[in-house]
Amino acid sequence: MKQRFANLLLVAISCHLIMPVAVAQKKSINPGINRSYENPDVKKYIGRFEQEGRDVYDHRHAVVKACNMKPGATVADIGAGTGLFTRMFSPLVGAQGRIYAVDISEKFVKHIEKTAEKDGLTNITGVICSQDSVRLPPGSVDLAFICDTYHHFEFPQKTMRSIHRALKPVGQLILIDFHRIEGVSPAWTLKHLRAGQKVFVQEIEKAGFRQVEEKKGLMKHSYFVRFVKVKK
Ligand SMILES: C[S@@+](CC[C@H](N)C(=O)[O-])C[C@H]1O[C@@H](n2cnc3c(N)ncnc32)[C@H](O)[C@@H]1O
Repeated sequence: MKQRFANLLLVAISCHLIMPVAVAQKKSINPGINRSYENPDVKKYIGRFEQEGRDVYDHRHAVVKACNMKPGATVADIGAGTGLFTRMFSPLVGAQGRIYAVDISEKFVKHIEKTAEKDGLTNITGVICSQDSVRLPPGSVDLAFICDTYHHFEFPQKTMRSIHRALKPVGQLILIDFHRIEGVSPAWTLKHLRAGQKVFVQEIEKAGFRQVEEKKGLMKHSYFVRFVKVKK
């Protein structure tokens, strides 16, 4: 009898302990949104990401200045794409710093590594990550930079928690994404983005961050928000 009670107690305790895992997100929040990045035509995406007329490209120098990157910093460019910002950050953090170019797409990461080598940018490290984790060493990053990528996260809470783990205790996070305003934003944005700034900020704060700054008017169609890591 005593043994049976002990077994029941054990089951109850384990159920309670694994509860958070059981309620964790199992299915993609936005299935198919990253299909085109599974085997991307890199040349085509260079033409799309690194060309006049793209909001963040047109304002890239103002964006980089606003990041206020320090020499020696370790920066994670999450969803680095074709490496537009990775390459701009590299000289700013210098030889003592490091840029992790993180992406789910192996082809993009390989392209960034190849161009970095060709350009002699020795402080760039490519990281092929998974849909739910950035796969970076814990406590290693000063600044995580997420540009036009948060709305592509299929497991936003898991990815954000992995970024939280990767950041140093005083680490920061910059989020850039499109304004999504019903009745104002173009149909493409309304369809492509599952939510706007308010929801994304709430989700990020839930993952253990606090918004400390917004640079208004930096870009035409996108917002720039800075967060600090808080204890979870
Ligand atoms: C619109 S592109 C932005 C590229 C780059 N940040 C820029 O602004 O030029 C989105 C990128 O996010 C990547 N991506 C999607 N989901 C991701 C995830 N969970 N973790 C890391 N990268 C992801 C895609 O492969 C793609 O390269």
